[in-house]
Amino acid sequence: MLAIRADLLDFTGAPSWGSTVLQNVRWRPDHWLMVGRDGRIVGAQTEDPGPDWQRHDHRGRLLMPGFIDTHVHAPQLDVIASYGTGLLDWLDTYTFPAEQRHADLAITTAAAAQFLDALLAHGTTSAVVFPTVHKASAEALFSAATARGMRLVTGKVLMDRNAPPALCDDVAGAERDCEDLIHRWHGQGRNRYAVTVRFAVTSTPEQLAMAGALGRRHAGLYMQTHVAENRDEVALVARCYPEARSYLDVYHRHGLLHERAVLAHGIWLDATDRALLRDTGAHIAHSPSSNLFLGSGLFDWQAAVDTGHRVSLASDVGGGTSLSMLRTLAEAYKVQALRGTRLTAWSALHAATLGAAQALGLASEIGHLGTGAVADLTLWDWACGPVALHRDAVARGALPGCTPQPLHARVFAWMTLADERNLAAAWVAGRPLYQRDARP
Ligand code: GUN
Ligand code: ZN
Repeated sequence: MLAIRADLLDFTGAPSWGSTVLQNVRWRPDHWLMVGRDGRIVGAQTEDPGPDWQRHDHRGRLLMPGFIDTHVHAPQLDVIASYGTGLLDWLDTYTFPAEQRHADLAITTAAAAQFLDALLAHGTTSAVVFPTVHKASAEALFSAATARGMRLVTGKVLMDRNAPPALCDDVAGAERDCEDLIHRWHGQGRNRYAVTVRFAVTSTPEQLAMAGALGRRHAGLYMQTHVAENRDEVALVARCYPEARSYLDVYHRHGLLHERAVLAHGIWLDATDRALLRDTGAHIAHSPSSNLFLGSGLFDWQAAVDTGHRVSLASDVGGGTSLSMLRTLAEAYKVQALRGTRLTAWSALHAATLGAAQALGLASEIGHLGTGAVADLTLWDWACGPVALHRDAVARGALPGCTPQPLHARVFAWMTLADERNLAAAWVAGRPLYQRDARP
């Protein structure tokens, strides 16, 4: 049994948009978080725990639920930070060539382990992940996640056109691979299978129909894809699917929109599309770092709020330039600033924790520090380096002439200035899987 002493921060519901007040923000400064033998949270308290508990006293640090990255590509650590292209050229120039390496079992197995360890070292304990078209790449991720006890949603990528022949499958072969992977991994431990359509451009209508049928055949499957990321891509989809009303409608026509559907980007949507997201329960994995890096556009989060469809946050590495969800949140703030709105630290952090868990239907298990949740935890330094230490001291009112600022100011400065260097430790289901200061 584990007890961790720190400042506990999580959410009990959605904070109200644009407001910095403590609505649905659960702030328990200097508490012990108590974790039972089964790796689930049993409560929080201010009294010192008895000798039965393995105590970790981290007073002065911040303890949060692990982040949930709802859209990230495992094989793209090879192409992160590649120069000079927008989406379609970036795929052809960098990404498709790199993904071909994963035909090799040894390469994809090693890459999956390296990728999940990198997620943990950035404070992400759950993720919705794209592997490659190769069946073994999905298998490697499921197997590596099982070894770590991580909650993982993934599935073999479907692509049967407009990609290099070495990355193309066919409808019947892909269906067999998916069936086999679903049979072996979906619902095994914390693994869940996602029907993984790369995007409408790289699947024939027949493959999309097969993907939709898979989702109807098996209970609880997720669906992940990309939508309306880039204007050239939107135009290409209109040429590939002239009968569809919109890019999003391509997926709707093939039965791919439902409450476990995760669609990355959604920048170039209209009001009808947004209403369709709301009505089907599908949600957008907003990927601000990728959208800025590839020059894709500025996501309209305000319109999502006004319409009432869900939004989670995603690194979208390797289009995105960091696995750090904190860096991702800082980029999300800047995207909204460019749109003329302000993203509070509460809305941003909620979208990367409880909001994502709710959008994925997993809030009974992840995304918060409530009793009964699985203890997927991250422990953070409030500040690293002289500038952040100074800024944090100002927020705490610890410098001459400074008075303590509201909690939002301190947390917002942390969210904006912190990254993976601030992460001191991460636990998955109560097991310590990352420690910054551990000796190699
Ligand atoms: N659209 C289709 N494939 C990709 C991908 O790998 N990354 C991004 N950002 N968009 C895509
Ligand atoms: Zn992506």
